[in-house]
Amino acid sequence: MALINEHYMKLPNNYLFSDIAKKINSFKVTHPKEKIIRLGIGDVTQPLPAAVREAMHKAVDDMGSKETFHGYGPEQGYSFLIDAIIKNDYASRGITLEPGEVFVSDGAKSDTGNIGDILRHDNSIGVTDPVYPVYIDSNVMSGRAGILENGKWSDVVYIPCTEENHFIPDLPSRRVDILYLCYPNNPTGTTLTKEELKKWVNYALANDVLIMYDAAYEAYIQDPAIPHSIYEIKGAKKVAIEFRSFSKTAGFTGIRCGYTVVPKELNGFTLDGQRVQLNKLWNRRQSTKFNGTSYITQRGAEAVYSPEGKAQVKEIINYYMTNARIMKEGLLECGLHIYGGDNAPYLWIKTPHGLSSWKFFKKLLYEVNIVGTPGVGFGPSGEGYLRLTAFGDREDTLEAMTRLKKWLL
Ligand code: MLT
Repeated sequence: MALINEHYMKLPNNYLFSDIAKKINSFKVTHPKEKIIRLGIGDVTQPLPAAVREAMHKAVDDMGSKETFHGYGPEQGYSFLIDAIIKNDYASRGITLEPGEVFVSDGAKSDTGNIGDILRHDNSIGVTDPVYPVYIDSNVMSGRAGILENGKWSDVVYIPCTEENHFIPDLPSRRVDILYLCYPNNPTGTTLTKEELKKWVNYALANDVLIMYDAAYEAYIQDPAIPHSIYEIKGAKKVAIEFRSFSKTAGFTGIRCGYTVVPKELNGFTLDGQRVQLNKLWNRRQSTKFNGTSYITQRGAEAVYSPEGKAQVKEIINYYMTNARIMKEGLLECGLHIYGGDNAPYLWIKTPHGLSSWKFFKKLLYEVNIVGTPGVGFGPSGEGYLRLTAFGDREDTLEAMTRLKKWLL
């Protein structure tokens, strides 16, 4: 008799975005003629940059000849990509990393979900609220979250980020061992200044807290004063793991590639207080459970850092950030309260007339055929908000604003 991991039974039936997809499908069945505009899940719409495609074509050809064929690659990633990551994403910001500190993967979702494998089941977890659901759900699965009571997991420390505190989280009131931070933030689209991030690093240093820093949206930062990496803060290598993704940077949501930085200075502890390098544990976990990202994908990711790749990626990011500007202006014109969207591809809307997140979601879908993501799906402090993404097509984005103005004005 195979006994199951009963923690899975505590989870709501569906992952947030699967739940929304189901609701859209049932709407489509009853309203087959309506043209839905999808600004819900943060999936990109613009094609892969030419430099990436060319590199991937060439990599396919490599696979077709005996001399350049690649079988299993290193589980940690090929050095050509790791070197490009270190040089362009870190050295350029004055951050020194060794190749052995960077682990290429199939994306930040997998890594943020899997990282818990190397940590004990009874660590206490802190999250900013609202939060990317993967951090919570993956901790529920391993028994760290407790039980769901009134929309909150009993063993999770929620750090509210709302209009009232300008979406800047306060230090937690209760002890946490592991803290998730995502900046630029998904879902609120807000950012932290260097000073604010420093407060968190110093807190982690003083209290032996491990920070999981998700920087999947750093490429969208427009303001040069906002940090792209937590390692821009002194001492962060002692307390933080950083997750990055090519999904939102270079259109890899369907290709799958990201990476995780686990500095060698970063230690966890055994129950009897012995320090252990988390880098060693993650390396061990990856070598056992992961066989590396495909050679073709990694060649594509490497091309993101070529001069042509950089220029093309910049153009795509400008495209989405122009969407964000169009949306922000349009929504403000509708009289809505809007946050985010300046240094991130997400806009966080306060629902009008105090509507609940789901009520506003349904009204949007049924009355103007626009899909957003209900804020409460990201956690209790998301109630009364809705998230729209700037990853839509320009035409759809403009059409969505026209529909909203007609509807709300
Ligand atoms: C989102 O919409 O929050 C993201 O697309 C989800 C993800 O990156 O997995």
